[in-house]
Order: sequence, then C-alpha cells, then structure tokens
Amino acid sequence: MSEKVIAIEGGYKLNGTVRISGAKNATVALIPAAVLADEPVDIYGVPEISDVEALATLLRELDCDVKIEGEDIRIDPSHMKEIPLVSEAVNKLRASYYFMGVLLGKYKKVKIRMPGGCYLGPRPIDLHLKGFKALGATIEYVDDCYIIEAEELIGNSIYLDFASVGATINIMFAAVKAKGKTIIENAAKEPEIIDVANLLVKMGAKIRGVGTDTITIEGVEELHGTFHEIIPDRIEAGTFLIIAAAAGEKVIIQNIIPQHLEALISKLKEMGVKMEVVGDSIIVYGSEEPLQNIKVKTQIYPGLATDLQQPLTTLMTQAEGISQVQETIYIERFKHCEQLNKMGAHIEVGEAKSTIFGATPLHGARVMATDLRCGAALVVAGLIAKGKTEITNIYHIDRGYDNIDHKLITLGAHVTRYEIDD
Ligand code: EPZ
Repeated sequence: MSEKVIAIEGGYKLNGTVRISGAKNATVALIPAAVLADEPVDIYGVPEISDVEALATLLRELDCDVKIEGEDIRIDPSHMKEIPLVSEAVNKLRASYYFMGVLLGKYKKVKIRMPGGCYLGPRPIDLHLKGFKALGATIEYVDDCYIIEAEELIGNSIYLDFASVGATINIMFAAVKAKGKTIIENAAKEPEIIDVANLLVKMGAKIRGVGTDTITIEGVEELHGTFHEIIPDRIEAGTFLIIAAAAGEKVIIQNIIPQHLEALISKLKEMGVKMEVVGDSIIVYGSEEPLQNIKVKTQIYPGLATDLQQPLTTLMTQAEGISQVQETIYIERFKHCEQLNKMGAHIEVGEAKSTIFGATPLHGARVMATDLRCGAALVVAGLIAKGKTEITNIYHIDRGYDNIDHKLITLGAHVTRYEIDD
C-alpha cells in the first residue's frame, strides 16, 4: 500500500512574501448558508482546500447548481430540493452539520448522517440540538442519521452552556427564518461568526449583536441572493507567523487582519520574536537571539485559539527553559506531541496540558499528521529539523491549508510530495 507524503528538507532560511487565503472556518459555514437564499449567491476568496470540494458535493446532492472558478464559487439554490444527506460525503468533514441548521431553516425538516471531522477528543453537538429544540424542532436519531423537523420554527431565547462556534452559527441558520425573535446568549464571538452573519444580513436576515455574547435575530420570510468576500484565515496567518518565527530571515505575511491575531502576536513577542505590523501585513524578522519560554492557555476568541497551540508548540520546543500549554477547549488536543518527540522534542502530556522542555534541536523523521493542526505543527518542525522529515496522512493538511507546499517553496523551503510504500 503506498501513500503520499509531504517531505521537507530542514534548515533553509525563509525569505519573501506569502499571501493568506480565505478563512476555512468561515468558508465551511458560508457555503451551506447560501442555500437559505432563493437566488444565486456568489462567494469570493474561497480557499483551495478539500473541505470546499466536499461541501460542493453535498450542495449538488441537494440539486443546487455549483460553479467553482478559482477563488470564486457561485451557488444557485433556486431549484434545490429537500433531499436527505446520507452519502459518504457527509462524513468528510465535521462542518457538514451546518446543513442541519440551513435545511431546518429552509424546509423545517432535515435528515442528515452524523458528521465526521478531526478526532480532537469528544466533539458533541448537544448545544446545536438544544438550540433546534428551543426553536420548536423534534429530533430523532435513527440508523446513524439525525431527523430534525418542526411544524413551525418559533423564535426563542437560547443559552449556550459553552460558547460553541458551531452551535452559535447553526442556531443562527435555523433562526433567521423562524417566526419572531431569537436571542442566543453566551454566543461565541469568533471573527468567522461575524463573517457568516454579514453574509446572512446581505441576504436580508435581521441579526444584531454578532461578535458579542448576545446575538438577537428577527426571523424573516425569505432571503435573497447576494455576493460576499471571505475574511482572511487567521489560523493560516498564525501558522505562517509561527513558521516565519521558527525559520524566517525576513518574511512578509500579507492579507491579514492584525486584530484577529492579537493573542498570538503578544505570545510571540513574549518569546522575543521580532515583528512589525504594516497595514494588512505583518513582517517577521529572524533573529539569532534564543527564544524565551512561555506559558499558553487556549481560550475562546479573542484569547489564544486552540487551533494555534499545536503549531506554536513546535516553536516552544526551540525556547530555552520549560514552557507549558493548557487546553480549555479540546482537552485531548495533544496528539502532535508524540510526533514531535519522535523528532527530538521533549514534551510531557498531562491532564489537558503539555510541558515542553526546551530548547531541543529537532531531527528529521517519518511522522504522522493525526489531525489538521498536528499536520501544521509537523510542517513547522520539518522546516527547522536537521535532515529530511516525511509527513504521512497529509489529507488532514490539505483539508485546511490552501497550497501550503507552494507557499513554502515560494519562501525558499525545500518541500516536495511523493509516494512512499508504507
Ligand atoms: C470550530 O469547531 C472550528 N471548526 C475548530 O477548528 C475550532 O478549533 C473550534 O471552533 C474552536 O475555536 C470549524 O469552524 C469548522 P466548538 P467547533 O463548537 O464549532 C464543545 C480547525 O482546526 N461543544 O466551539 O466544533 C466541544 O466539545 C478546527 O480548523 C459541546 O460541548 O468548536 C469543544 O470542547 C478544529 N457541545 C468546545 O465546545 C456542542 O454542541 C468547542 O467546540 C458543541 C461544542
């Protein structure tokens, strides 16, 4: 059995400019959101990632017309039908669950197979279902499928026990066409949620307070077509900040919203990384100074994103002294540590936390991307390790990073893809 790997020859200094693509975690919600309209929706700045293809497949199963041209996608839901989503495609990504909210909002009924996605410890959807029930839906789970339906969707107040990104967005999807007012309390405030709400408002939805912990939605009868440009991907941008801090001489990261990266920027400054924010770019300067150890605690936005603690861990292995990561979002999100230890790191994993003993020189090895952001952590490690690193299970990386090899090669990295017999 053979498989494709990403191979990186480490030790090359990076220079030049990289342009950040559209935000994956906005894109995977914006594409399902389009079906709430009765007319075509154009979305610009779509990243070239496999999640987009998977979502386009699901749209076509619903008889939506989908055209993808470069970074633009046109979704025409005017002839779509209420069809159960039970194919394999549903399992390709966890964000398939956004079709629960949009189809419930559009048809008051949805039958969908349980979503897949990265294993990051338990990933329930109880808060999504709590919201649908509060709006008047009944929920059955039969043969691995959710059947969610409502005679009528009636606005209601919903308190989220955890400020869940997915639940906030999914409940918004069902509420924009419910009768009356819905209030989501303890809502998540991530920038991607604001981006999705901006599209819905352009389609005619009535939504206030997105970006705060209380969102108010007045239901409307119908939603019309529009166009929308996706915000830049703050997690890809953060990953490249970390790459530049680890292996850069002078790297310019373009098309970013600095405000979305405040927590990471302050942590990198604490480590002694030299950066300069210039408009919608950040310049990162390499330095011979040793990096300082830090403590990191993941938080909901605007705290340090859980998605960034994995690649940041790689940088922390290069800091002098003991560093620590504490997870408050996904307590089992530490599978990258074992892989990094294979490359010479010294990381001990405890209860929802890791302790990193640095600085440890890294050496190339064959390692496995256990999930998307573990893949990112291993790419950072490969760039600074001595010798060659081969990363397997790279489909995880391709789900969330748009042409990462090309972007790294443009900066001077030695990255290739080839088949190995495993
Ligand atoms: C989104 O996942 C992102 N994915 C994740 O990014 C990101 O890590 C996460 O938000 C946190 O920021 C997408 O947007 C597609 P949550 P989501 O609901 O919506 C618990 C990546 O690498 N929870 O905010 O699934 C859950 O167990 C991915 O790009 C419930 O208990 O995250 C977790 O502990 C990984 N019940 C916490 O909330 C629920 O009903 C955060 O989950 C829902 C969530």
